[in-house]
Amino acid sequence: MPAEISRETLARLSEYLKTQMGLYFPENRWDDLRRKMSQAMKDFDYQDLSGFIEWLVSSPRSRREIEILASHLTISETYFWREPRVFEALVEQILPELIRAREKGERRLRIWSAGCATGEEPYSIAIALRRVLPVPEDWRITIMATDINPGILRRATAGLYGQWSFRGLPKRLKEEYFHRKEDGRFEILPEIRKMVTFAYLNLVEDLYPLPLNNTNAMDLIFCRNVLMYFTPERAVQVGQRLYNSLVDGGWLMVGASELSQFTFPQFTSVHFPGAIVYRRETRESRPAEVFRLEEISSPTEIVQQEGGDPPPMWERWRRHPLCAKAHEYRWSRAHRQSRSHLLWPWIAPCLAVTWLRRSSSRAKRQRVTLRSVSERLPTKANS
Ligand SMILES: C[S@@+](CC[C@H](N)C(=O)[O-])C[C@H]1O[C@@H](n2cnc3c(N)ncnc32)[C@H](O)[C@@H]1O
Repeated sequence: MPAEISRETLARLSEYLKTQMGLYFPENRWDDLRRKMSQAMKDFDYQDLSGFIEWLVSSPRSRREIEILASHLTISETYFWREPRVFEALVEQILPELIRAREKGERRLRIWSAGCATGEEPYSIAIALRRVLPVPEDWRITIMATDINPGILRRATAGLYGQWSFRGLPKRLKEEYFHRKEDGRFEILPEIRKMVTFAYLNLVEDLYPLPLNNTNAMDLIFCRNVLMYFTPERAVQVGQRLYNSLVDGGWLMVGASELSQFTFPQFTSVHFPGAIVYRRETRESRPAEVFRLEEISSPTEIVQQEGGDPPPMWERWRRHPLCAKAHEYRWSRAHRQSRSHLLWPWIAPCLAVTWLRRSSSRAKRQRVTLRSVSERLPTKANS
């Protein structure tokens, strides 16, 4: 029977969990929270729940401590081929379209399962990909799977599953991609297992998109049944960061109950039979961003922008969103509590390369757009 804890203490604890892990425990879930904390305190060698909570919220906790806490507080319910209509859309339309678009250029696909739990989701994605691309050898495929709970990541890496994990998977796929062990469990085939890389990542605290942790330039992100446990504000922030992690035209899959214009206002909804998924539009189909007329008041200014000197390099660097993000993080509480500043000598060159590549292609695009717009604007001769 969980001990009595004051409402004040529970309110402080739920605020702490919200900021450190994004987890949302409103008042109507405090009984559940009390129960889970009573379990967690044993791993921290505490006998007294109230003392444990006081200790927890009193100062920043290490990553290891957050991991242990996560293993008690998060819900890792999942199974293969969850929401089958999404996988049908993936196999029949989304992946074939992506492959067609990349076939003649860089043969590369980058997929991220964020909040992957015990791995059923990223392995389902790998199976879907195998069906569309039976010989993936001459492709560079990344399927990255991350979670805040290292215990379940270890289970995911092992790739062994009980019958309950297969409640959504068509029987023929189970027979084709798993083999039965003597103990009655099913093991995923090694060629599917090695397509997926598992890693720890806290969607609230960790920095992304970032080449260093391989969270940038994604074609597809699955973040399903994760944000439903976050506060609405936190879910909006994560939604924006996932948007930034996608390439133009990239796709975001969220759980059916998580679809929301409030949480994902920057995405376009795309309807498939029985499934709705989000898409980051391509630049061509994003007129407001490609060229904002209201930002340029006269043709003279256009000419100046096109032909005049570009702003100094440091100024362009300072204005860049990546720099703004890094700056924001540099001064955030999360950063002060972590030792990630020690990573800056490695992060800075990666940011610089990404920025250089992006800004040179953007400058080229902007020149083309400005030229075509200035041709369309009235000149003294024809007005
Ligand atoms: C219900 S499972 C969803 C699994 C899978 N995506 C699916 O839809 O079947 C939610 C997962 O999100 C993870 N999670 C919760 N908070 C997280 C955070 N702040 N960062 C990363 N993962 C988190 C949990 O550990 C859990 O494994």
